[in-house]
Amino acid sequence: MTAPTANSMTPATTHEAQPASAGLPPAMMSPILGTYKRAPVEFVRGSGVYLYDAEGKAYLDFVAGIAVNALGYDDAGLKAAMHAAAEGLIHTSNLYSTSPGEQLAAALVAKSFADRVFFCNSGAEANEGAFKFARRWARTQGDVKHEIIALRGAFHGRLFATLAATDRPSYRLPFRPLTPGVSIFERDLRELDAALSEDTVAALIVEPVQGEGGVRVLDAGFLRELRAITKARKIALILDEIQCGLGRTGTLFAYEQAGIEPDMVTLAKPIAGGLPMGAILMTEEIASAVKPGDHGTTFGGGPFVASVAMHVFERLSDPKLLEHVRTTGAWFGKQLNDIAHRTSRIRQVRGAGLMWGIDVMGTSAHVVSEALSRGLLVCSAGDYTVRLLPPLVSTQDELLRGLQILEEVL
Ligand SMILES: Cc1ncc(COP(=O)(O)O)c(C=O)c1O
Repeated sequence: MTAPTANSMTPATTHEAQPASAGLPPAMMSPILGTYKRAPVEFVRGSGVYLYDAEGKAYLDFVAGIAVNALGYDDAGLKAAMHAAAEGLIHTSNLYSTSPGEQLAAALVAKSFADRVFFCNSGAEANEGAFKFARRWARTQGDVKHEIIALRGAFHGRLFATLAATDRPSYRLPFRPLTPGVSIFERDLRELDAALSEDTVAALIVEPVQGEGGVRVLDAGFLRELRAITKARKIALILDEIQCGLGRTGTLFAYEQAGIEPDMVTLAKPIAGGLPMGAILMTEEIASAVKPGDHGTTFGGGPFVASVAMHVFERLSDPKLLEHVRTTGAWFGKQLNDIAHRTSRIRQVRGAGLMWGIDVMGTSAHVVSEALSRGLLVCSAGDYTVRLLPPLVSTQDELLRGLQILEEVL
């Protein structure tokens, strides 16, 4: 049985004995479907890197809405962008073009490998769309070229095709049969070299830093090898940067650090400052295979969300912010390693920028709930990994405060 947890990322799975709301008093039984085992706290406001409950207790937030709230809470610039966006069009449908979406797409193209962008509403949707575009493109090379390959430890979403590319049995098993033609292979070059058939494989999807799978940074050399193999065999390399992209690892896109250019990149989480949005960035070669009517979305890239995202993108692509993430991130990682040496409670520290995971003795759920009671929010990435995703604007003092609480907990 999965250990009980206060972590909002851990879903109540069908084999768990307790109902999702087990930690809450009966008066707080929620009419919301129990797919999350929610922490026994309700936040009413946020400011900077802190969230506050109804009693005014402050919580230093190293979850940041699971890598969404890169700018923290109550950010003046973000609020102004939202007010300004509300003065304009909210929605027109994708039957018409509107300038905020055009401008955002142009900005994403200007700062990346990509030539074209498709907007949607979430990370899973971005990956599902990328799978479709990869198949559409691969089929121009041969009718059996359709398989999608993901890696051990991957998390790409909860919809059917993305679930098939997600490597966690408790997420997958209750929903079989999953989408056919999607398989998971070890993060092993020899095995992947054998699996990546030029004739049958349309796409390989990879998180440069696996998030849910335990914060595992994929080696730059490994990514370069995968790029070389997929390029030679005309297989689309899709990088899922939904969690690790947009500044989280200290460069605007994580792929920059490996010096490679993918065929597609998927984005979501921080892109619109907490509003739902996803994006698929792609080369002209992939884009040219996609025809009107091949894919669609009612809401994706609407003018309100796109104009807010434009503000967020300008902030997250600011070289000063990226430099801040690199320097404070390196410092943060060193502090975590120092804590690991001082206590015997950490088995391993992994991460990049402001995305870190620590493998703990005992369960991550225990650390998550102890930290919560001391006013620090952290979340799990698996049963034994505690994940730390502070807002990218966190100062060194704020990070230090969180590390002190974490060390007390450990
Ligand atoms: C790497 C990665 N891909 C995809 C997703 C799915 O995103 P969403 O929850 O917006 O569908 C997530 C969410 O945690 C993620 O971390």
